[in-house]
Amino acid sequence: GRLRRTFRWAWRLTYLSAVGLVGYTCYIVYQDRHPEPQFEPDPTKKTLVILGTGWGSVALLKKLDTENYNVVVVSPRNYFLFTPLLPSCTTGTIEHRSIMEPVRTILRHKKAAVKFYEAEASSIDPDRKVVKIVDNSEIQGATSETEIPYDMLVIGVGAENATFGIPGVRENSCFLKEIGDAQQIRKKIMDCVETAAFKGQTSDEIDRLMHMVVVGGGPTGVEFAGELQDFFEEDIKKLVPEISPRFKVTLIEALPNVLPSFSKQLIDYTENTLREEKIDIKTKTMVKRVTNTTVEAEVSRPDGGKERVVIPYGLLVWATGNAVRPIIKDLITKIPAQKDSRRGLAVNEYLVVQGTRDIWAIGDCAVAGYAPTAQVASQEGNFLGRLFNNMAKTEKHESRIQELSSKMNLQAGNSAEAAQEIESLEKQLRRIKDIKPFRYSHQGSLAYIGSEKAVADVSWWNGNLATGGRMTYLFWRSAYLSMCFSSESYPFL
Ligand code: FAD
Ligand code: NAI
Repeated sequence: GRLRRTFRWAWRLTYLSAVGLVGYTCYIVYQDRHPEPQFEPDPTKKTLVILGTGWGSVALLKKLDTENYNVVVVSPRNYFLFTPLLPSCTTGTIEHRSIMEPVRTILRHKKAAVKFYEAEASSIDPDRKVVKIVDNSEIQGATSETEIPYDMLVIGVGAENATFGIPGVRENSCFLKEIGDAQQIRKKIMDCVETAAFKGQTSDEIDRLMHMVVVGGGPTGVEFAGELQDFFEEDIKKLVPEISPRFKVTLIEALPNVLPSFSKQLIDYTENTLREEKIDIKTKTMVKRVTNTTVEAEVSRPDGGKERVVIPYGLLVWATGNAVRPIIKDLITKIPAQKDSRRGLAVNEYLVVQGTRDIWAIGDCAVAGYAPTAQVASQEGNFLGRLFNNMAKTEKHESRIQELSSKMNLQAGNSAEAAQEIESLEKQLRRIKDIKPFRYSHQGSLAYIGSEKAVADVSWWNGNLATGGRMTYLFWRSAYLSMCFSSESYPFL
């Protein structure tokens, strides 16, 4: 009898939790589809212009109480892109739409409406406090260029692909930064395979076309090479068995090892895994020139000598890191305090661009002493959101204190009540104003390396945990998938 009662209760509890969960999910979905009506931006408030819709700017927008400012967002991309899963889009493991989040949907959920312009900021005038914007999209109207004045400006335009001016790179390679890049790579891989399978194709051409070369052994290059090898195992072997043995992936890196920012143990694990996957890793090999069919590189030999090699390729993916965008280069020349900035805008500990007032920079275009990662960018955006919310509260409290003080001087009768309110406001003000400078909290690094294996360098209690393998892959996958579905911030990347 007791066992049956316990069982009945357990069943009821499970039933109730399931009903609760379904109800809660329906509520969330309903809320998402039917956000509350927004109030219009107030033009008397300060105009806050935000450039970009990447990791930094979107984290800021998610945190910001938009009713405090007249917010304007400018970006050539009307969606947020979840870059960690971009390499998986190149081979179709993940559908591209699932890693894009429309900006207008994000903005629709804010209390006060936000203006969005799909345009590129082409220059910033810090003296006149205006940003020049240009619509460079395919479809243009009669007006495609204008200026936007700002009281406060946040620059989160990210970075562009570094080519170091190496001849032939821009004309002949694919990059891996935007959704269009992933789509182009996907199309080219299949085109190489189909061209290699063309009737009467010569043997040398089959080898060239089936050779996928990746330049840059950072996390982007390594993850993409891993995805390519998976694609070979899972698709090419089955679809074109007759030429599949000729498929080959080569990863070229100028330094002595791949993934220089990971620990030695994980570097060794990654290199061994990539070799097991039959990826040819060529370290100490610096690409010097690219043609439409070959990569020319300089190899440093163990005896210290140099050797020139020519590598034919079918697909070339260039992943050698970041370069500064033209708009940032241009702004640097306008600010004397930035004359030594080479890798982006130097910012102080509150992310204010050094040598300016009312301009902040976040993410890959800012130099704050951290690596150019999504994790850093989103923490910086989050920090600015909190800072701006606090600044608005401070102003509100200060003007109320001023109002109460002048009232107190006029009518002595209510002064006790007013004095009490002032005291309470001043207390709140001290707490609000006590904002600590930005400090990055590193949650760890994760990278997929192919064959359902991943490597992770994560902070664990007070120490560090370096791990690699299938369990890490399951962790990588579940962490990223949960982040893709999360509407809040992304704490761990
Ligand atoms: P971005 O996210 O690049 O956003 C810049 C925004 O500015 C974009 O919306 C762009 O359209 C817009 N913009 C560009 N020019 C202008 C202009 N002139 N005017 C207005 N707007 C403009 N980091 C991690 O931490 N973990 C990972 O797993 C990881 N994986 C990655 C995988 C790949 C393939 C790549 C390429 C990067 C990865 N990164 C990862 C790095 C991470 O994506 C970047 O560090 C991050 O995107 C930087 O954020 P951001 O906001 O500075 O710039
Ligand atoms: P990167 O800067 O990390 O690596 C580029 C690599 O290319 C370097 O190792 C460099 O030595 C090499 N290289 C440069 N020129 C070369 C040449 N001519 N020939 C051969 N090799 C050359 O760039 P990546 O991988 O694009 O990453 C950019 C940023 O994004 C980094 O901060 C990275 O941490 C972050 N990121 C993080 C990921 C993750 O955590 N899973 C995934 C992808 C990017």
